[in-house]
Amino acid sequence: MPIEWRDRERQLHLYNERVSYVMRVLDSGTLAHLYFGPRLATERDYGHFLRSSFVARYNQVLDPMPSELPTAGSGDFRVPGLSVRHADGNTVLDLVYREHTLSSGKPHLDGLPSTYVEVEAEAETVEITLIDGHSNLQVHLLTTIYADRPVVTRSMRVVNDGSDDVKLITAMSAVLDLPDADWHLLQLTGAWARETHIVDAPLVAGTRAVRSQRGSTGHQQNPFILLRRPSTTEAAGEAIGMSLVYSGNFLAEVEVDSNDTVRARLGMDPETIRWQITPGMDLQIPEAVLVWSDEGLGGVSDAYHRLYRERLVTGTWRDKPRPVLLNSWEGVYFDFDEDRLIEMAAQARDLGAELFVLDDGWFGQRDDDTSSLGDWTVDLRKLPSGLPELVSRINDLGLLFGIWIEPEMVSPRSHLFENHPEWAVGSPGRPRSEIRNQYVLDLANHEVVDFLERVIGNVLSSAPISYVKWDYNRVITEPFGASLPPERQNEFFHRYMLGVYDLYSRLTERFPDVLFESCAGGGGRNDPGMLAFAPQAWVSDDTDAIQRQKIQYGTSLVYPLVAMGAHVSSVPNHQVGRATPLDTRAAVAFFGNFGYELDPQALNDVETEKVHAQIAWYKERRGLLHRGRFHRLTSPFEGDGNETAWMVVDDDASHALVGWYRTLSRPLPGPSALHLRGLDRASRYEVTVWPEADDWITRANVMERGGDELMSQGLFLDDHAWESQARGDFQARIFELREVTA
Ligand code: GLA
Repeated sequence: MPIEWRDRERQLHLYNERVSYVMRVLDSGTLAHLYFGPRLATERDYGHFLRSSFVARYNQVLDPMPSELPTAGSGDFRVPGLSVRHADGNTVLDLVYREHTLSSGKPHLDGLPSTYVEVEAEAETVEITLIDGHSNLQVHLLTTIYADRPVVTRSMRVVNDGSDDVKLITAMSAVLDLPDADWHLLQLTGAWARETHIVDAPLVAGTRAVRSQRGSTGHQQNPFILLRRPSTTEAAGEAIGMSLVYSGNFLAEVEVDSNDTVRARLGMDPETIRWQITPGMDLQIPEAVLVWSDEGLGGVSDAYHRLYRERLVTGTWRDKPRPVLLNSWEGVYFDFDEDRLIEMAAQARDLGAELFVLDDGWFGQRDDDTSSLGDWTVDLRKLPSGLPELVSRINDLGLLFGIWIEPEMVSPRSHLFENHPEWAVGSPGRPRSEIRNQYVLDLANHEVVDFLERVIGNVLSSAPISYVKWDYNRVITEPFGASLPPERQNEFFHRYMLGVYDLYSRLTERFPDVLFESCAGGGGRNDPGMLAFAPQAWVSDDTDAIQRQKIQYGTSLVYPLVAMGAHVSSVPNHQVGRATPLDTRAAVAFFGNFGYELDPQALNDVETEKVHAQIAWYKERRGLLHRGRFHRLTSPFEGDGNETAWMVVDDDASHALVGWYRTLSRPLPGPSALHLRGLDRASRYEVTVWPEADDWITRANVMERGGDELMSQGLFLDDHAWESQARGDFQARIFELREVTA
């Protein structure tokens, strides 16, 4: 049993081979947090972790005591995990332990996405009931430990078993108290077109918050934080990850108090999301996923990659190779007709693509972004034979067909808005902000969700559509749901998200074979909540190969490569105006979910040949790229940021791909080496380079090297024919390592 309950000490110890998580019920009934870290022995009393200074002072106030679910007004003056306002205005909560139950497996959360198990032996869960005797407010705290992963998940359900309304002010998914503050905080920060840049800084006294109040998780911050020891590197040392399975407003906050202890908390944003729980009702709080590793940042990422790939993503596409796609957006934008699309698709097929995606502009009268969102009927001016005929022609070419939708939006210039202005978010009579010429539909209103299920369902059932790019191109302003009473307006942001999840659930259940890709102006809603429905995300609108290195490097901290849409586009790049070599663009996009976003007609013969070769190269290796272990080798966020390197190794260390990128050329670069990881020290590897060196180079293009030397001394970047060719800016090379069998 990976959960041990010691009756005498009232101690719960969740453990597997790698980690332990310990809680304890104090004499007062308060649930204390004792430990999260490397595996500890079982059959031990860990009461002394509540150090005597804590306990002595605890007799007066709870301030320094580590807690599983700290409440406001209790004498614990750090940021709370739960706070409420009772009907009489009182904000005090005396939460005491009532009971706990152990069970195999992991329960589903009502209305919310979460990680799961396929067989019960994969995890064990404890549900602890805490109760405030005065109000009869109950908290059901769910903590799960996976058997074979360094992962603990946390969520809770708050139940009003009393006779008066209770207002939930703060309800965090996880609170983690740590006994010292010698940590750095990493966060994924950015903006549109430069998402998920790593910010890494030492903790200091006070609180630091990473949050979104935009209605979605946002381009600016990701619902993820990581704590690392100052000496922790990519490959070694202690690190803790906290990731939230949620797509709306969130808060991740770290507090260092006067005792130099740390409290980290993660959950829905308490400032913009509050909830009125009437007697007999409850609220399910989203799930947080905690990872501990002593294998550095790479260890944390690997645990998230495997868990999210295997037990968060759902549906038939979870385990299938993802198709190489050509997306129409940057190639033609709104300017196409049926013949043009067929031409593009035929060329894409000749290049080796497997899926043709028709992006924005196919519906209503959408010639630019000023109209028609909400009118999900095909534009017969552009596609006179209709969608079924277009799809059938594309299928006849041997390609799957995919389509772009933006269900949650409405254009002021649309039939939908004319007929249902009350369905747009905002209060009647007050001005609404237009962003990208559009309003957000009120998905807190069930009528709107029903309507969207119907109209989007009609599109998806009208033809064999294999893929959907579900976009979301603005933030929520003037939050107000016309269907909600005044006392529930504070619930709007969360009710909106519940509506989105409801719509996604209905559509993914009804169309189980459709591959969904989430998008929000690129990476504006790239989070584990979305991943549960859409197994891949368009992580940025920025397709520039240089900027993409940072975006993909940062995204990989939590999200697996297979979940990261990465496309080769034309140059000069449409977002930054930079011209990078075609092979460099591919060498970056290979380490993701690969595709193209350009007009194949604009390629010359040499480029056409290259693209053909790139697609063939990728198809042979996508299994490794999507399922292998990813290692970050050289960070674009460190030093002068001129170089980036990463690699993927398969599980038996017999095959690896190393991506190396250099932004600006450096005269007389000097000897440098990449210290590879994850290889078998006893094996020898044949090393080849992509793209291949030209014939006139006399030095061999194939080398044989030992796994031991490649990891300890490194792969010499000047040890190879390609080096003398890697002149000029924006260079990239991929080294392929195959184990040599004796
Ligand atoms: C967003 C997406 C793009 C594209 C456009 C279409 O910006 O991120 O990839 O689909 O919308 O309008």
